[in-house]
Amino acid sequence: MTESPEDLAVALDGVGYLADEGLATAGFLAMRLQRPLFCEGEPGTGKTALALALSSALDLPLVRLQCHEGIDAAQALYEWDFPRQLLHLRALEAAEGGRLDAETAERSLYTERFLLARPLLRALTTAPCVLLIDEIDRADDEFEAFLLELLDEYTVTIPEYGEIRAEVAPLVVLTSNRTREVHDALKRRCLYHWLEHPDLPREVRILRRRIPGVSEAMAGQVAEAVHRLRAMELLKPPGTAESLDWARALLALGRDELDAAAAARTLGAVLKYSEDLDRVRAKLDALFA
Ligand SMILES: Nc1ncnc2c1ncn2[C@@H]1O[C@H](COP(=O)(O)OP(=O)(O)OP(=O)(O)O)[C@@H](O)[C@H]1O
Ligand SMILES: [Mg+2]
Repeated sequence: MTESPEDLAVALDGVGYLADEGLATAGFLAMRLQRPLFCEGEPGTGKTALALALSSALDLPLVRLQCHEGIDAAQALYEWDFPRQLLHLRALEAAEGGRLDAETAERSLYTERFLLARPLLRALTTAPCVLLIDEIDRADDEFEAFLLELLDEYTVTIPEYGEIRAEVAPLVVLTSNRTREVHDALKRRCLYHWLEHPDLPREVRILRRRIPGVSEAMAGQVAEAVHRLRAMELLKPPGTAESLDWARALLALGRDELDAAAAARTLGAVLKYSEDLDRVRAKLDALFA
């Protein structure tokens, strides 16, 4: 079905995600070469949305792992359901009237019914699927190292249980906001794509696509204003997420035009730092002249 980057772009467009040629090519190659796709970029440039869109466009289940500081294998891969194992033992003891063979009892504990699959294990057993490993830069080094092995072979070994191997490789999308540099060893295993903010025509198309009620003129005004804000070197330049919020806010207020007055009332949809708000407020008239 997806025989080329262009096919993939059309499929993504079908679910409301507009990928440029570079991103469609990276996504296509990730599928073809069965390599994880490492997406880095400013906040709100569509990294997470890409994985969601791939899952819908390719009609594959989405398995999502949200990374955070201190995330470990038990949260990401699997855990044994200790309370249920204990109950099971008690039940066995009761049933056997104390004549329980220890080895048999122990073997019965490490079976699938007591295995709590976390997202990574779920992805291996669900594949084909899209596995989103979101915001890997929030996890620490050890977790990154742990991922290497898994992404190499799509296999895990659970000491008490055995090896679990994905029948087919999941389509893996890793994202990072680059709050820290991810190690070369992980990057080497992936195809890399840096997501830029969209250019003006694409941003207009995204707005039109995602927000049914927005007019061409309003989408143009919002996109242009956001592009001007991005050129101001703010603490937090607005992403596509903020463009969308801005247009939605204007619509909710019944505005069909973005001028200095409408912008002043809705700036909180686009700027999230008081320093940025102060700087932009001081220049509003010039920005909308
Ligand atoms: N190319 C695109 N086509 C359609 N919608 C897009 C596109 N890029 C971004 N969006 C929309 O912008 C919003 C923000 O995207 P998303 O949350 O994926 O950004 P992100 O890069 O993951 O940001 P963060 O780093 O903050 O997590 C979403 O509503 C998404 O649907
Ligand atoms: Mg995200």
